[in-house]
This record gives sequence, structure tokens and C-alpha cells, in this order.
Amino acid sequence: MDVKEVLQFADELVFAQTGKHLDDIQETVIKGVWQGQTYETIADECHRSESHVRDIGYKLLQILSKQLGEDVNKYNFRSTIERIYVKSSQVIGIGNHHKFNFCSQTLDQSHQDNQQNQAKSKPSSNFHDLTLAPKITHFYDRTTELQTLSHWLTHQNTRLISVLGLSGIGKTTLVKQFVDLNLQQFDVVVWKNLKLSQSLDGIITEILTGVNHDSVQPDNKLTQLFNVLRQKKCLIILDDIQELFIKGDWAGQFKTEYKNYQNLFTMMTEIEHQSSLILISQEQCQEMICLDEELYPIKCLELEGVESRSIMKNWGLKDDETWAQLIKLYEGNPVYLKDIVSLIKNIFGGKVADFLNEDSLIVTKDMKSRLTKLFKRLSPREQEIVLQLSKFEQPVSREDLRQSLSLSSMDLMNGLESLRQRYLVKRIEGEQVLFDLSLVVREYVRTCCQN
Ligand SMILES: Nc1ncnc2c1ncn2[C@@H]1O[C@H](COP(=O)(O)OP(=O)(O)OP(=O)(O)O)[C@@H](O)[C@H]1O
Ligand SMILES: [Mg+2]
Repeated sequence: MDVKEVLQFADELVFAQTGKHLDDIQETVIKGVWQGQTYETIADECHRSESHVRDIGYKLLQILSKQLGEDVNKYNFRSTIERIYVKSSQVIGIGNHHKFNFCSQTLDQSHQDNQQNQAKSKPSSNFHDLTLAPKITHFYDRTTELQTLSHWLTHQNTRLISVLGLSGIGKTTLVKQFVDLNLQQFDVVVWKNLKLSQSLDGIITEILTGVNHDSVQPDNKLTQLFNVLRQKKCLIILDDIQELFIKGDWAGQFKTEYKNYQNLFTMMTEIEHQSSLILISQEQCQEMICLDEELYPIKCLELEGVESRSIMKNWGLKDDETWAQLIKLYEGNPVYLKDIVSLIKNIFGGKVADFLNEDSLIVTKDMKSRLTKLFKRLSPREQEIVLQLSKFEQPVSREDLRQSLSLSSMDLMNGLESLRQRYLVKRIEGEQVLFDLSLVVREYVRTCCQN
């Protein structure tokens, strides 16, 4: 298929939907996308702004997706157009606008036949394996986060979603609550915890065995998995992804033996199917980040603390007018709150006001052990930065930090980025970008990490 044929085919598809032929700039964009050029290069070539070209590209890809009945994006454009062009030329021959309606119907029909054939070969039963998922008995707040997940999974068919945040912030609880509320929407739901087993081959085999009722071929398991993801609407949840990353290095670096997960995450977004993978992690890795969400079906939900007092209402506390202050002090982290509340009940008879009057931030032994685990994961340079940050009372600029540390500018930038990817350092936007530690982390570092 040459460029001329691509332009002609695209023109027929666009004409069928809009009644208008491609204009010069649309042709240039299609030609560029076909040739694998970036929008930036295409923009340079036709002397337009990149955002204008990107906008045109996006609209064209949407029209083509609608006309062809499947997702066409910048990255599958060439293979999809070629495949459908070959199929449609076998059916009717290309190059006649008046024939296009017939072409579109024929393709739709063949798409439907294909789906019916797939349905026939589908194993009949659904498969839900939540053996390793926690049971949620109390759930408060997080209405917006639940809606966001629902929108991404049910309306946008997002294929890779990461739920991220500090230990104890409520990632696992939120995702499990979502699964409990939406179980029936999925043919297959599988929950795996990487703290318990990290063998990807083992996980894939279990999924295939569950779905295919034991008929798993020993070879090409990834191909078999993607066949299932295509035929059925699956939701796979992998909890505690940070277990796959190296300790003592920058955040989100895969251990050599788990690079196959890295490939799986990328394949989830690049290969066509109808399923989703949710990654729950304390650390962000590169595969979870997407600068152009229009093009890649990837999303990130970064959890912050809870704000409402409702989470504390059944904990048997007194002085409810002071609860908001306690939540603020412990940054709405449910696990810190549970911990401190148990101390307030045992030592202060549940009187929150009395605890707050002590005017000191208590880092309990459980908080300490949680934070110690996180600190053991830091690279030496990150540890230096955190120690230095804990000495400041106020948020601090990168320049001030650099002057107080003997790190190269590159190490400082990488260190700050890595700490942000672990949710240990907060970035404060303003005229000048500032960095800060959370109150609990600062107190922990001051009291537990000084030599
Ligand atoms: N929305 C919520 N309503 C009620 N309790 C919650 C909520 N979110 C979290 N919790 C409670 O806080 C605790 C920590 O939550 P969870 O285990 O989900 O955190 P996490 O972010 O997955 O932590 P980790 O990274 O250490 O696994 C749990 O005991 C859970 O019951
Ligand atoms: Mg968890």
C-alpha cells in the first residue's frame, strides 16, 4: 500500500462520515502519521503549530476509528489501515466513493461475524478469583476516586491504570471497593498480590487455567493471555507492584528478573483488546506515566489522604470538633489515623482534644516501622536529600537545597524526582517550585534517622 492509496482510502472514510474531502493539511498529517513522523515534525513541515497539527490528527483518528469500528491511533495506524485495506479490497476493490457505504457495511458485517465466531469459541463461564484480595468491611469517602475509576474502566476502556500513593493511604482498599461494586461488569476478574508470589509465568498460567478450564498450552502463554483479553472483558489487579523494583536505587527500577512485567505493561497498552490491568503501587515507574493520554490508554490515580471525618465516626472517640485537626496533622492517611486513634483511646481515654493539647506530633512504633521499610528502599542520594529537607521548617526551593548539599545538580534533580515518585516529597507549585516533607515523615527523619 503506498501513500497515495492511504490518502485515497482515508479520504473515502472521512468523506463517508463528514461529506467533505481531505484538505491539504489533513493530507499532510495523514501522510506524516503513516510515515511514523511525530506531530512536531509534521508541524514543522507544514509550518503550523504542533498543537494545531495534534488536534487535526486526533480528530482524523477519531473519524477513522468510528468508520472502521475499531480504535485507530497514531501507533497502530499503519498496521490497522493496511489490514483493513487488504480486507476491503478483497471484498469490493477500493477507489470508488460510491462504493464506500457498501465497503463500510461489509466491514461492519465482517467485524460482527468475527465477534460472533469469537463468542462461539468463548468458554461459557466467567472466572472471578479474588482469593488474595482483602475483604472490605468499612469504607468511607473516596467518592470522586471511585467515580474516576468507573469512568476510566467502563467508559474509556483504559487498558492500564495505576493506583499510587504512600503506604497506608488506602490504595488496596479503594480498588477492592471498586471491584466489589463492579464485579458483574467483567467476565474475568483476577486479583494477585506480588508480596506473595512474583512469578509472572505462574500468574498467567493461573489466569489461563481458570478461564480455559485447564486447557493451557505450555508455549506462547502471553499470546494465549492476549487472546483471552481480546475475547473477554477482563480486569486483572496486581497489588504491591513495588515488590518488582530494586531497593536502594532510584524509584521504579525493575529488578532484572522482573523485566518481563515491564514488557507486559507496555503490551497491555499497545495491543488491541477489551480488558484492563490495574497496578497498585507505592512507587511509580516509567510504564505508568503517559504524557499524551489521548493517544495511549493509560491513566494514573495518585491518592492523597482522606478529608472527611466520617472515617473516624465509629472509632469511639470524643471531641468530634477536633477530629478535623487530627486528620490534618496525620495528612488523612487512614493507617496513621487508625494507629494514633488507638493510642489516643489507650492513653487519653479517647479524648482527642487532650492529645492535641500535648502539642507534639507522635510517630507511633507502627508508623516508625512502616516508614523504616520505605526508607530502606531509598538510594543513598535520596536519603541525603530527605535528611537535609527535614532540617528546614518551611518548604524549600531546589536552589536552596543544592546549596546546602554536596550533590551534583543531576543527582539532586533525579533524587527529587525519585522521591516524588515514592510520594515522600511533596512539590508545591507557585512562582517558584518548592519541595517539602509531610509532617509525619519529617518527624520520623528528625527523631529516627539522625546519626
Ligand atoms: N476509604 C477508606 N475507608 C475506610 N478505611 C480505609 C479507607 N482507606 C483505607 N482504609 C484503611 O486504612 C488501612 C490502609 O489501607 P490500605 O491497605 O488500602 O492502604 P495501602 O495504600 O494499600 O497501603 P500499602 O501500600 O501499605 O499496601 C486499611 O486498614 C484500611 O482498612
Ligand atoms: Mg496495599
